[in-house]
Amino acid sequence: MGSANRPPTPDGVPLMGHGWAFARDPWTAMREWAERGAVVELSFPGRSMYMVTDPQLVERVLVADQDRFTLSRAQRQTFAGIEDHAVTASTGERWKRLRRALQPAFEWDGVRSYGDRMAERTAAHVDDWDPGDRLDLWAEMRRLTLHVLGDTLLGVDVEGEEAVIHEAADALVAKTDFRRPGQLLPDWVPTPTQRRFERAVGALDEYIEGVIADSSPEPAGDSVVGVLLAARERGDLSPAEVRDNLTALFLAGHDSSAVTLTYAWYELGRHPEVRERLVAEVDGVFDGELPGADDFDDLDGVRTVVDETLRLYPPAFATSREATDPVTIGGYDLPAGAQLMLPQWVLHRDERYWEDPDTFDPARWERDADRPEYAYFPFSGGPRHCIGMRFARLELVIALATMVDRVDLDVSVDGPLTFTPSLSLRPENDVRATVRTT
Ligand code: HEM
Repeated sequence: MGSANRPPTPDGVPLMGHGWAFARDPWTAMREWAERGAVVELSFPGRSMYMVTDPQLVERVLVADQDRFTLSRAQRQTFAGIEDHAVTASTGERWKRLRRALQPAFEWDGVRSYGDRMAERTAAHVDDWDPGDRLDLWAEMRRLTLHVLGDTLLGVDVEGEEAVIHEAADALVAKTDFRRPGQLLPDWVPTPTQRRFERAVGALDEYIEGVIADSSPEPAGDSVVGVLLAARERGDLSPAEVRDNLTALFLAGHDSSAVTLTYAWYELGRHPEVRERLVAEVDGVFDGELPGADDFDDLDGVRTVVDETLRLYPPAFATSREATDPVTIGGYDLPAGAQLMLPQWVLHRDERYWEDPDTFDPARWERDADRPEYAYFPFSGGPRHCIGMRFARLELVIALATMVDRVDLDVSVDGPLTFTPSLSLRPENDVRATVRTT
């Protein structure tokens, strides 16, 4: 490969390469690197990576040329030891078989039937708060989204079991924090983070095995547990595939939604005029009742707040892929095995496509803007895009509308908002909220 065909490399430091700037402030570093070009080559200790920040090229990788890319090394490492037999960790024919097996649980007709229950669960959660209560907002939102998920899509009662699921999610996030010094060590090295992860996975496996043992395909119907067990009965899924897919859905199915609701409240706190508009909208749309899936299309203001929150705070801050063959991207030749990072974080805040990109402005979604499709891809794209996208969008709109109708939260953060560069864009600060009645 001629060096003339290699992408530019932003300045790094000896040994640590670009890892130094990333560990200090990944959010600024990624945006600065993108200024060097649509494709840049980055080196981190022990690995190199190509960051792609042109929407057309992102679309090529995810959609048009998707058969030339597979799971990245980072994705494989993330799910090793916890979701080895799940859709999230699979490739090729096996991935197709697992995705097909899960798909019936995610059809829109089934998903929309959960709307009422999403609202009821949210209302019950919020009605437990008293005026003046001081909440850990992130902790509240993850409990809420876990209960909504359990009560609807999964068909599993998670009451009293939150700790085992959340500890596994926390251990996974700690393991996949890109700044963690031990992240490059193989999993058999017993670092404290790895030991914690193994303990948490052991406990979660035991819990999930119990859920499976207590369920039968019949009563659960279209819920995920029902769909998975029916597939096992038909011989389409192995017991390990049932367990690991359920694990994947427990974790992927609530963490990102909780992150989004936390940041939506954070921004509503900073923009009272937006909150007032939402209060007026929900009054007009469901007027003291609870919302359901039929209200989704009428809740324009709530939808734009959700869209804008996912733009500014994409829970998956980057999608990644590995090239299976040599590829030419943006005029550069990348070798087979090249690791690609497609950062939502950078594209969602690119001033070529977004006016005042760092400003929370839900009204931008009502103004005409001619921007490429992949300037915005919070759920990724192509055949591997988020299978839970429709469920998540419905849940976010219904949960936010229900909450806004019932309470106001006075949100405070200790210092500027910072995030964990890991599996989901979690807040690193304490995000506190004091409950006020509306
Ligand atoms: C705000 C909420 C959510 C966001 C932003 C989000 C985002 C994403 C992204 C970016 C991917 C990666 C796709 C890729 O590699 O191209 C993904 C995959 C996935 N998501 Fe979500 N997600 C959310 C909610 C959910 C929910 C609610 C569920 C399930 C109930 C879910 C289940 C999954 C699964 C199973 C995959 C793997 C799909 C595959 O490999 O075929 N997600 N999600």
